[in-house]
Amino acid sequence: MATLNPIRVTEQAHELAAAVLQPGDIAIDATAGKGRDTAFLANIVSSTGQVHAFDVQAEAVQSTQNLLQVSGLSSQVTLHHRSHAEMRAAIPKELWGQVSVVIFNCGYLPGSNQKITTQSGSTAAALEAAYEMLKPTGRIVCVAYTGHPGGQEESSLIHLFADRCQARGDSVEKINYHPNFARPWILVVTRNPNHATTKLSN
Ligand SMILES: C[S@@+](CC[C@H](N)C(=O)[O-])C[C@H]1O[C@@H](n2cnc3c(N)ncnc32)[C@H](O)[C@@H]1O
Repeated sequence: MATLNPIRVTEQAHELAAAVLQPGDIAIDATAGKGRDTAFLANIVSSTGQVHAFDVQAEAVQSTQNLLQVSGLSSQVTLHHRSHAEMRAAIPKELWGQVSVVIFNCGYLPGSNQKITTQSGSTAAALEAAYEMLKPTGRIVCVAYTGHPGGQEESSLIHLFADRCQARGDSVEKINYHPNFARPWILVVTRNPNHATTKLSN
């Protein structure tokens, strides 16, 4: 069976995000890294939309800021130098239930400290928070890697999140997923439009 290489995975994740994203929309990049995903989303939402991007590494936030500046995209992006697990605290309440796309590109930043990777616990918490941000028909695109330490456990928790979404009646696709093979895969959750949008609890 053909497998996806990391570049192809990223391109495919972009296609899956672009399919539900329009100018004027709100999007979230949960793992900004070098800013390529953030810039991709910012280009589509244009100056009438907004992107919120998260990263725990100062170096990643700086790289993303630099890329946005040279691309003329800074005005439509808010950078958060904090964990995506703190998404509820970082995203203004008026945007909850309004977000079209949340993208995750898990693992470590290529060319950087490979010990700083996404972690299963915070990724799982962030996926649940991201789900609450989605508008009806909004989509989470999550690229999971299994090769780094902790990657298999993270992949299993992403899979459990997918099961919960499926049980709620959302559309769930697991592209390239195989329980017995360690390889990158993409989870796509598209929120069931018949769900009521998340009730704001506090
Ligand atoms: C594979 S890279 C992301 C690549 C990026 N999307 C791009 O387009 O260049 C993963 C990133 O996740 C970041 N990261 C790790 N844990 C995180 C967390 N809890 N919250 C937000 N970002 C995190 C790492 O610092 C790293 O920059």
